[in-house]
Amino acid sequence: MNSLAPYHSFSLQSSAQSIVFIESLDQLSKIEWTNDTWILGAGTNTIFTSNYSGSVLINQLKSLTITESDTDWLIDVAAGENWHSLVEKLINEGIPGLENLALIPGSVGAAPVQNIGAYGVEISRYIESVQVYNFKSHEFVKMNNSDCNFEYRDSVFKQPENSHLLITSVQFKLPKHWLPVLEYPDLQSLPNDATAEMIMQHVIQVRKAKLPDPDEIPNAGSFFKNPVISSAQYQSLLSNFPDMPAFVLDKNKVKLAAGWLIDRAGLKPLRVGDAAVHQRQALVLINKGQASGADLLTLARNICNTVKEKYGVELEPEVRLLGENGLLAQL
Ligand code: EPU
Repeated sequence: MNSLAPYHSFSLQSSAQSIVFIESLDQLSKIEWTNDTWILGAGTNTIFTSNYSGSVLINQLKSLTITESDTDWLIDVAAGENWHSLVEKLINEGIPGLENLALIPGSVGAAPVQNIGAYGVEISRYIESVQVYNFKSHEFVKMNNSDCNFEYRDSVFKQPENSHLLITSVQFKLPKHWLPVLEYPDLQSLPNDATAEMIMQHVIQVRKAKLPDPDEIPNAGSFFKNPVISSAQYQSLLSNFPDMPAFVLDKNKVKLAAGWLIDRAGLKPLRVGDAAVHQRQALVLINKGQASGADLLTLARNICNTVKEKYGVELEPEVRLLGENGLLAQL
């Protein structure tokens, strides 16, 4: 039946036409690309809201090589490796840098797609290059950091016209001259001389306290992006909501906390079927067991509508939502 439920962490009942596991680079040249093929890593940021009419390739490429120069650690990792295992392994070997990004679910290959970020660090800071296999030209291509168009939870790999690029490996450059990043409010209780190991353990604790473990409660992390609005709109919102958290991006733009907007709009009790808002972090939607894709989409639309009415702010999904024929154009 080719069920996709085990292969995406929101675990909606859905199936694909076929599922192929990519375990070696030699397999790639034998795969015929069709426009309805979807490439998946660990499926922690992709939600199949219905049966999928195409085939799904699941990237399970494995390898890890660590070399060094005088100034940096150079880490070459295959895309199918588990992200958190990589972070832990590096810290245990005395290679700091990725500690703020501990316990992010998913694979190494998803890190550049999403430009994963947490607790004040985005991975684009440490990506030297990304190796991809282009299924249309059947060539391997190395893309440098600047080719990847990294932005907040976005990259060239997330664009629909690049869906034929399979990330085979990622090259990270971690400076040996390491400095802790402790500015994020959740990390401010740590001492200034905190080690990478201490930061990693603290991040693990904070995440475990706020975010549901997808193995226990199916979810896909933050469902929405934190919205960016103009400073003028923020100033006018502040008069009604003086304690609204915000992060100033530049003199014209402010990023709001979508979790706070949802929480303060009184939406935490909202539930449609088995699709619900997580009680400890309203930005995360969860599957309480038997949610359908329609339940989830209805819940997400209700949240967007209420947030728009209350604050005049548009929320956009952070997860990738797929319907029968591919990416959903809108919620
Ligand atoms: N807040 C509430 N109620 C809630 C949730 C949040 O009041 O239900 C408030 C918090 O008290 C805080 C603010 O909103 O003042 C921000 O919350 P938090 O620090 O938990 O982070 P976030 O902005 O909600 C983002 C990322 C997370 C990442 C954390 C930590 C996005 C979309 N999400 O969440 O990433 O772990 O910051 O850096 O940018 C993910 O992408 O899947 C993810 C979990």
